[in-house]
Amino acid sequence: MAKVDRMSITLAFDVYGTLIDAHGIVAALQDIVGNKAEEFSRTWRDKQLEYSFRRGLMQNYENFAVCTSNALDYACAYYKAPLTKEQKNELLGVYRVLPAFKDVTEGLARLQAASFRIYAFSNGSADAVEMLLTTAGIRDFFLGVVSVDDLKSFKPNPGVYSYFLRRSGATCSSAWLISSNPFDVIGAISAGMRAVWVKRSPEAIFDPWGIEPTITVSSLADLKEQITKYPTLGN
Ligand code: 2OP
Repeated sequence: MAKVDRMSITLAFDVYGTLIDAHGIVAALQDIVGNKAEEFSRTWRDKQLEYSFRRGLMQNYENFAVCTSNALDYACAYYKAPLTKEQKNELLGVYRVLPAFKDVTEGLARLQAASFRIYAFSNGSADAVEMLLTTAGIRDFFLGVVSVDDLKSFKPNPGVYSYFLRRSGATCSSAWLISSNPFDVIGAISAGMRAVWVKRSPEAIFDPWGIEPTITVSSLADLKEQITKYPTLGN
């Protein structure tokens, strides 16, 4: 079996929902929409992604922050929560400094110690991602941030995965996407990359498309061990 060369393996970490907890907004929402906060947060996130998919298909690009803001307006209308402009701005401000999941620092530290090439790869603009990673105290683990914003499209357009490979100097066979978002995992595999699904909740469902993640982990803390075991790693 071919030898593992981790220094040639590039990992593209999805950001919102994988490194950064998009539902870290719930506490701030509780002050505004009370016991509807969790549902509200789910609707907000679902609509944010839907808007990115639709803008990508329509080739009517606005950056991810606009999708986030439009989705907040939708959630307010859906839950009949007439938020003031100030309240919306406050929520969008919290969205810019959301927390990392608890397993992230340990998982990244293990991968860095094992010499993997680590990048952030996101729908978010480079500025927004830099701010999130810096605020969460994890920016130093990454060689760089690659944003779809440069292409004016969104995941899972296959072009954005190719763009990641170009920017990071990787090839399909040496690059893995790491994501909790099934649509992102399927998008990367469909574009020729390998992909890890981070299934933190046993309740999470992978889209039944007949395309499976290369590897599934329940915590980023296990990623280094699991990915290192993969038989043809890097070859
Ligand atoms: C990200 O690209 C899909 O929201 C996810 O960060």
